[in-house]
Amino acid sequence: MTKQLTRREFAMLPAAAAAAAFIPPAFAQGAAPLITRAIPGSGEPLPAVGLGTAEIFDSADESTKQKAAAVVQALVGNGGTLIDTASTYGDAETVLGDVISAAGLRDKIFIATKLESPDAAELKRSLARLKTAKLDLLQLHNVSNAAQSLAAFKAWKAQGVCRYIGITSTFHRDFPAVEAVLRREKPDFVQIDYSLDNREAEKRILPLAGEMKAGVLTALPFGRGRLFRAVRGKELPDWASGFAGSWAQFFLKYLLGDPRVTAVIPGTSDPAHMVDNLGAMRGALPDDDQRRRMVQFVETL
Ligand SMILES: NC(=O)c1ccc[n+]([C@@H]2O[C@H](COP(=O)([O-])OP(=O)(O)OC[C@H]3O[C@@H](n4cnc5c(N)ncnc54)[C@H](OP(=O)(O)O)[C@@H]3O)[C@@H](O)[C@H]2O)c1
Repeated sequence: MTKQLTRREFAMLPAAAAAAAFIPPAFAQGAAPLITRAIPGSGEPLPAVGLGTAEIFDSADESTKQKAAAVVQALVGNGGTLIDTASTYGDAETVLGDVISAAGLRDKIFIATKLESPDAAELKRSLARLKTAKLDLLQLHNVSNAAQSLAAFKAWKAQGVCRYIGITSTFHRDFPAVEAVLRREKPDFVQIDYSLDNREAEKRILPLAGEMKAGVLTALPFGRGRLFRAVRGKELPDWASGFAGSWAQFFLKYLLGDPRVTAVIPGTSDPAHMVDNLGAMRGALPDDDQRRRMVQFVETL
């Protein structure tokens, strides 16, 4: 699942000419190692920067599909594999299914989607829209009740419908329910909102995920763009130049500096932003002192 495209494979892709512009020299030469994280339940390495698709691919029109194709090419062409979507993100599953199958990329992508409930009809619809017989990760969206069961998800995993199962939430009032389900049902992944200016997950969810050996995906890593608005017009601090070449990399590397984070899933509809975000998957990560300094910095904004 994590195999990168050879230059020949890449050249054969339909949008190769446009996408080639997004390959930085380091990737073309295969020079800089990618940061991957082992999925705790299996040891499978997962490239640590993926793509979120809430809102941006909502409509299955031609212009959205073209944008999605360029973003997906930029992801795969620069070593990424993970795409996170959901049955409720408008037409996003359909857009992704069309783009991935047209480019023959299914075996290069780790597809994570979400269902609102353990509903076989909803699952069937997601599989059809994504044009795949098997998902990489199937998540229960927005867990809000401590009694929610993952029995059906476990049965689907046993049947080979998905390779991993997970739960998600971005509502802090629901974190006690997330903790209860994480502890009792032991999913392979928990997806939670976590960003440099929103660190609630550090208190209980990350420690529990570590204890339960669940992988962590961080939703809303830029706070829906809030962090970019906070630093508009500001230069990156000098002390960050050893690990970040852009604000996006600064924000994402704060999260990846925590080894319990398996992958970050920033949303973008812009291929150049996708490449920028994937740059957080290379080079040094901030150490604990630098991470504390990053928090102090953001608290003064
Ligand atoms: N409950 C849940 O399970 C849940 C809830 C919320 C989100 N999620 C997941 O988390 C993902 C991420 O959240 P999100 O997409 O809402 O918000 P986000 O990733 O925090 O921020 C996205 C915003 O950042 C901008 N951006 C991205 N890369 C950039 C760059 N390099 N430079 C400048 N701006 C950049 C995007 O604009 P451009 O398009 O212009 O790049 C967009 O406005 C979602 O897509 C979804 O997959 C899950």
